[in-house]
Amino acid sequence: MASLALALISTLGFPALAAKPHVLFILADDYGWGNMGVHRRDAGASPEEQQGRAEVHTPNIDALIDNGVLLDRHYTYKICSPTRSSIQSGRLAVHVNPINSAVTSQNYEDPVSGYAGIPRNMTGIAEKLRDAGYKTHLVGKWDAGMATPEHSPKGRGYDTWYGYYQHANDYWRKSTVFFATGEVDACLNRMKDLSMHNATYSGPVRDAVSLSAGCQEDEESDPGCYEEHLFKERVLQIIQEHDVKSPLFLFYSFHLIHTPLQVPKAWLHKIDALVKAAGGKPFDDDNRRLYAAMTLYMDSAIGEAVDALKKKGMYDDTLIIFTSDNGGPIYEPGAASNHPLRGSKYNDWEGGVRTNAWISGGFVPEARRGKKFEGIINVADWYGTLTELAGVEMKDHKSEAANGWLKEKGLPLLHPVDSVPQWENIINDKNGRADPMHLSSKAVLMWPYKLVTGKQPLSAWVGPNYPNCSTVKSIDEHNGPLPAPDDVKIFGEPMPLANTSAEVDRQTWTIDCGEGCLVNVRDDPTEHTNLASDPKYTSILLKMQETLKELNKDLFNPDRGIDRVEACDVAIEQDRTFGPFVAADHFYSPGPEKSYSLQVEDAILRATLHTLNNEKVKKPLVETLKKVGTKAFQKLKSDKCLVPLHEGSESEEPDLFTV
Ligand SMILES: *[C@@H]1O[C@H](CO)[C@@H](O)[C@H](O)[C@H]1NC(C)=O
Ligand SMILES: *[C@@H]1O[C@H](CO)[C@@H](O)[C@H](O)[C@H]1NC(C)=O
Ligand SMILES: *[C@@H]1O[C@H](CO)[C@@H](O)[C@H](O)[C@H]1NC(C)=O
Ligand SMILES: *[C@@H]1O[C@H](CO)[C@@H](O)[C@H](O)[C@H]1NC(C)=O
Repeated sequence: MASLALALISTLGFPALAAKPHVLFILADDYGWGNMGVHRRDAGASPEEQQGRAEVHTPNIDALIDNGVLLDRHYTYKICSPTRSSIQSGRLAVHVNPINSAVTSQNYEDPVSGYAGIPRNMTGIAEKLRDAGYKTHLVGKWDAGMATPEHSPKGRGYDTWYGYYQHANDYWRKSTVFFATGEVDACLNRMKDLSMHNATYSGPVRDAVSLSAGCQEDEESDPGCYEEHLFKERVLQIIQEHDVKSPLFLFYSFHLIHTPLQVPKAWLHKIDALVKAAGGKPFDDDNRRLYAAMTLYMDSAIGEAVDALKKKGMYDDTLIIFTSDNGGPIYEPGAASNHPLRGSKYNDWEGGVRTNAWISGGFVPEARRGKKFEGIINVADWYGTLTELAGVEMKDHKSEAANGWLKEKGLPLLHPVDSVPQWENIINDKNGRADPMHLSSKAVLMWPYKLVTGKQPLSAWVGPNYPNCSTVKSIDEHNGPLPAPDDVKIFGEPMPLANTSAEVDRQTWTIDCGEGCLVNVRDDPTEHTNLASDPKYTSILLKMQETLKELNKDLFNPDRGIDRVEACDVAIEQDRTFGPFVAADHFYSPGPEKSYSLQVEDAILRATLHTLNNEKVKKPLVETLKKVGTKAFQKLKSDKCLVPLHEGSESEEPDLFTV
């Protein structure tokens, strides 16, 4: 139909419309500004800067940027689940999901928004693109909710998915251990997190190779059971098998470069050799080396995906979109660097919310290739940009329909899509977001000014080689940086990282902006100068404070309930793998028959989890775990100093509170 219409239009002499592009959307996880090669090109002449430049290797990404458009002012939310919810739903994070809640949470009173992630009754971008004739595939991390079938990638419009629901899992074991997720969950971290669906199957990944961690010690460069290897193979298969008569929407959602810092050994040797060849000294810090090796793996996987598009003859009609979900985490053991920007994942400084982002592929007009776009983009804007390119409307009728009912019940109403289509802006070099942009309940951007309020953890500038031996020493001496408070949880309750809140603030490098720090991010991109006390800026400050207050009236933050052991019951049924647990009767494909002994073990585990989740037992348990956890954090030791570098030294598993 579409091609017929196009043919008709061109015979009638109308300007030929570009056909719908194939779209490869690449989402990196926790990718630091300073960890992308292009951002090191202007490194200063100091030995430290030159060392930093020698350590960052992203040749495929750099080449794609040189043949595409660098998106210099691309903003996301400061943490992952909100950004991911924003991309899939087309709402600013503050209007869809401003928190990382446990995937197992449920509020019985609100069947629309009372769960983690995107409210049940919103239309996902993949649903929109499927309506436009696209074949839609997601590979990798989801982290936008899983409670009901409607919350899953399948429910949001993806024809197929292979990946995990949570913030992270173990790259080898695909399990939900504490050091991967940062929380003790209702199922005591006993579940796996690797699922899939396609036209004929929906449920846990069951094949032995995918679930095995057996290849962890392999010396070969790309061992088959490494999670990113599995994702990459799936991506390549989708491209190879795609019928080019339909447009393709392929969402490649990396686990890289999120913790845990795990990579096949061969990549450590590869990055060492590259650093040496670039004239650098060996890494002096273990986690920095791991992060650099993981970055190299991601870059190489992107290179392979692009090669596959070219081989298939699809590249010329493909739009590649790349972003990170938030800035790099500079806390132990995040190991990213946002140099020279200020801050980190978890705060509203540029290092937390201004992300590595670019577009590329043959669909980018030649005249724009190799350029930098300085207009403001919010990550929510891809929804409107893609629906526009696909020729379908952006409006969400499903959420609108739900609002009638929600209003009647006095429950929070769903926001409309507030995406700004950006394609024309990028092509014509025009800023499409001159209006105030609501970054979080604590920050607003009114180009070129940004107002940042309240407590902001990790408010630091890190150097060109970060983390390093002095970071290790700093952690050893209890001077931080520890992860942001409130996001390390036990049964949904924040776990204190130190004895007193003043200690937590000190060790998380928290500063208090109070009513507002004011920065000019155009003239002062590294946010060194707080203009708030300068009388020249009083009127701007007041106006922005007023604006933020006004915008905050529109925050969407429904009660998402508490961790539910029912989620564990369903997971136990499904080979101990996370998945939808509400109204999910028809969601799962039948699995293999369970042996009698496995049924007994399952029954015991179920009974144990029910006992532990009983309020009377849970309360004292949480108190105990908090104490143990605080102590463990005070002894946190995952990084180590590598001076002098021992040839072939490998990192050990962090000995942090492995539940
Ligand atoms: C769907 O996935 C199942 C389980 O991995 C597999 O056996 C089946 O061949 C797949 N079907 C299609 C149509 O790809
Ligand atoms: C929300 O979606 C669910 C699942 O599709 C549906 O059963 C329910 O009626 C919807 N609720 C509202 C208020 O529209
Ligand atoms: C090493 O890390 C510290 C913080 O832990 C930072 O202040 C310093 O700039 C870093 N050094 C280099 C050369 O990056
Ligand atoms: C924290 O408190 C515990 C007991 O409440 C105490 O044993 C420990 O020494 C304290 N740690 C620090 C660093 O103050």
